[in-house]
Amino acid sequence: ALVTTTEMFRKAYSGGYAIGAFNVNNMEIVQGITEAAGELKSPLILQVSAGARKYANHTYLMKLVEAALIENDIPIALHLDHGGDFEICKSCIDGGFSSVMIDGSSHSFEDNIALSKKVVEYAHAKGVVVEGELGQLAGVEDDVKISAEDAKYTHPDQVEEFVSRTGVDSLAIAIGTSHGAFKFKPGHNPMLRFDILDEIAKRLPNYPIVLHGSSSVSPEYVKIIQENGGRLADAIGIPEDMLRQAAKSAVCKINIDTDLRLAMTAGVREVLYQKPEVFDPREYLKIGRANIKTLVAHKIVNVLGSDGKA
Ligand code: G3H
Ligand code: 13P
Ligand code: NA
Ligand code: ZN
Repeated sequence: ALVTTTEMFRKAYSGGYAIGAFNVNNMEIVQGITEAAGELKSPLILQVSAGARKYANHTYLMKLVEAALIENDIPIALHLDHGGDFEICKSCIDGGFSSVMIDGSSHSFEDNIALSKKVVEYAHAKGVVVEGELGQLAGVEDDVKISAEDAKYTHPDQVEEFVSRTGVDSLAIAIGTSHGAFKFKPGHNPMLRFDILDEIAKRLPNYPIVLHGSSSVSPEYVKIIQENGGRLADAIGIPEDMLRQAAKSAVCKINIDTDLRLAMTAGVREVLYQKPEVFDPREYLKIGRANIKTLVAHKIVNVLGSDGKA
């Protein structure tokens, strides 16, 4: 059965590592991620965005994850990524998810509290945990474009009040990460505000923090995509040493989607570009799936430190 993130986060916090939260949309992505985590005995969070749910359908995703639970002997949580309103959270809670995010970060502080509290009350009554968010990530989030200059870091002064008034089980914060493949401008040094993270961790002792927008945008996959007809100039991610540092801290959940997209696309492009005669989807999807497995294994061992913790 699915588990919540409660036990995962408690152990990750005290053990100085983080759990990877990987976005899923289809069978090959679910298989690549769960095979890597299964072999490495790593706890795992699979997360589904509103867009993923629209693309694949709630039931298909649910059943794919149920299949992964049968095939792999590890704890898996199924999480709604960036729930935008009460209704989608309710629908995922009623539909069997073990965790939901209510992303009220674009609302005022008071509206975010009211919305998050309402989701927590509904979720907790059904044994489901809730992630809230305070502060806004740079880049594209919820169709709102926020320029890097306007990045609104989380205010440490607000976190205690937010967590105590809402009852959220974990908190996503903004310290300089952003969604997508273009996180920093070329020529600008990637920078995360570890000082803000430290201050937040001080205000919320033993409390699990979540980092969104944490793909590294590996040059290896960008290169394969570009060499095989793709266009991805100036793609820049979060350096892995920064993520390792974060994983050792109060950060217990690290969200990765873009790196999966790049790994899948690199594999599919490579086959279709190099072998134009191929038209069996299995021939290119299996290379994409293998890339995802390699990528997730690398994250678990070299970035998250969650191997052997299942
Ligand atoms: O944070 C966003 C995730 O990468 C999901 O993206 O809304 O395009 O599925 P999506
Ligand atoms: P990336 O775009 O950096 O992979 O972030 C994914 C994410 O935060 C999903 O919620
Ligand atoms: Na940690
Ligand atoms: Zn996110």
